[in-house]
Amino acid sequence: MAILSYLLVGDESDLTQKSTTEARLGQIQVAVKRDGDQNPTQVYSELVSNRLAQFLGLPVALGVAARDSINPELSRFASLWVADHGTRIFDFTEAEPDPDAPPAPAGAYNETGFYWEFKRLCDRYPMEAAQLAVFDLWIGNEDRDLNIKGQLDESGPNILFALDQGNALLSCGADLKDSLGKLGSSGFPNIHPMMGMLGHFECGEMVERINALPDWAMLSAIVCGVQVGSVLPDNQYELYEVLDERRKLLRELVQRVLLAPS
Ligand SMILES: Nc1ncnc2c1ncn2[C@@H]1O[C@H](COP(=O)(O)OP(=O)(O)OP(=O)(O)O)[C@@H](O)[C@H]1O
Ligand SMILES: [Mg+2]
Repeated sequence: MAILSYLLVGDESDLTQKSTTEARLGQIQVAVKRDGDQNPTQVYSELVSNRLAQFLGLPVALGVAARDSINPELSRFASLWVADHGTRIFDFTEAEPDPDAPPAPAGAYNETGFYWEFKRLCDRYPMEAAQLAVFDLWIGNEDRDLNIKGQLDESGPNILFALDQGNALLSCGADLKDSLGKLGSSGFPNIHPMMGMLGHFECGEMVERINALPDWAMLSAIVCGVQVGSVLPDNQYELYEVLDERRKLLRELVQRVLLAPS
């Protein structure tokens, strides 16, 4: 798998202080996300999903907390823009479904019309696809259909990355309380675009990886200790507790949603 690299834009300039290693001042393109009335917990949820994904070694575009000098009290999430290496990656976020594609098998999930593209993705990247799908079940992310990109052509280099976890964790429900309730339930979610396409072994490995995550790692990813947007430290601790319990439900969730969808 190619290392994800991020898009440098503009010119580089000298750092004001002399660098012994010839470091230069540069800029990376980012997608900037903020909390809004529709989703007042998005920044926190993006940030924490991203931190967990990095601990777990997942192919998720790296994102960081960001603020500007005009509104420094406003926290934002900056998703570092992945450079596509000049290859033709399939962009599930923008592509149009192929009108000549054969119909998806009866009962298969095909909400966005990318059944065959997801099938190719899972066949080409069985391990990474399973890692992302199991992670989505853990963080309560029902929004993967249009938030993934990857090289599907056999001739191209291996590139796959996921992005946009803004509707997961404390944003997976109508509000914070509803989200915590959903995360506490093994009945949620019910769908995933990779359902029926993944291997038992690959999914099982990921369940084990999440369950092996040390408490200190989970705590440091989830509990920031300061308010982030509208999310208070107490809410962060509640999320830690619910996710800690939820990982014990993952085997059941994987079986029901990914391996044996009805
Ligand atoms: N880190 C990134 N690298 C490359 N492309 C990105 C990155 N972040 C965002 N994008 C592109 O910008 C689009 C919008 O970003 P994102 O999905 O995070 O926002 P959104 O407001 O949640 O959008 P939507 O509601 O359509 O899902 C993505 O669908 C994707 O095409
Ligand atoms: Mg999106």
